[in-house]
Amino acid sequence: MKKTIAVLPGDGIGPEVTEQSINILKTIANKFGHTFIFKTGLIGACAIDKKGNPYPDETHTLCINSDAILFGAIGDPKYDDDPHAKIRPEQGLLTMRKTLGLYANIRPIFTFPQLISASPLKESIIKGTDFIVIRELIGGIYFGKRGRNKAGTSAFDTSEYSKKEIERIAKYAFEIAKKRKKKLTVVDKANVLETSRLWRETIQNMEKNFSDIIVNYLFVDNASMQIIKRPNDFDVIVTENMFGDILTDEASVITGSLGMLPSASIGKKTAIYEPIHGSYPKAAGQNTANPIGSILSAAMMLEYSFGLKKESKTIYNAVEKVLNKGFGTMDLNPATILGTKELGEKIRETI
Ligand code: IPM
Ligand code: MN
Repeated sequence: MKKTIAVLPGDGIGPEVTEQSINILKTIANKFGHTFIFKTGLIGACAIDKKGNPYPDETHTLCINSDAILFGAIGDPKYDDDPHAKIRPEQGLLTMRKTLGLYANIRPIFTFPQLISASPLKESIIKGTDFIVIRELIGGIYFGKRGRNKAGTSAFDTSEYSKKEIERIAKYAFEIAKKRKKKLTVVDKANVLETSRLWRETIQNMEKNFSDIIVNYLFVDNASMQIIKRPNDFDVIVTENMFGDILTDEASVITGSLGMLPSASIGKKTAIYEPIHGSYPKAAGQNTANPIGSILSAAMMLEYSFGLKKESKTIYNAVEKVLNKGFGTMDLNPATILGTKELGEKIRETI
């Protein structure tokens, strides 16, 4: 199989973790007789510095002409600390998601038995956790009208969802639930928000078309509690953009480290694969960041975009073996602490 992969390392620890994934994808290509062509593009703060645009046209062209996108991370403190910044790195990621029409963000939450002790939560609660959060990615408050009054003393952000947008993401979630334990949890705030009431009404109307799926509805405040109280009861969760953003950071605590979790963003055009962690600027260039979130994102790419299940599984198995031997980056508190490069290399050698 021959595929072109757009590589967008981005900011902070993005480049170092992405480098490890590329090495691993190259090894997979060798082992299984595929050809992966890697083409690098700019995104985020580094793109603002060089091109004055966090998602330059060249990067967009590269993305639409590729078979998948491997993305690192985005964000730089020089913008976070400046509420008046006109251009922000994050706009690059949001524009990319929107222009590629990537409405479904898939974030699997699972535990590795070896890492249970790295989580601050009790083993008896988190053991065996395995659910997927499907976050709507290109609607809601992230993309609604926002602004300030003339004096700048009051501000607003609006959340809007159409029935069509809700049906599109819900259908995706129902289909995933069908292939799993047939349990779907819809997370909203229908006791307060009109958009949530439309979510609930729309999904309730869809239930009859998926009669084999058991659907539950939870308010987001309650859901945030239940997810860490009884994570084993969840299978597929579907929710709007901002609730999904917040709940998945919270859920990452179950895994032991935010650095472990991969994600896929899928929709109309080229899909993006990225770790759910951010750019972690303090650790940039230190060779301490956990590359596993990125490496497992590459594994998701092989499965979801290229249909290469065996190759994907090979990566998961290698990660598991290396963790089993007690290796890990310092966030995992392992028996043997390795750097980003060294952990990536161990996983690659194992493959
Ligand atoms: C994520 C990130 C982004 C988001 C930021 C960087 C814009 O937190 O992918 O979860 O909020 O979607
Ligand atoms: Mn986030």
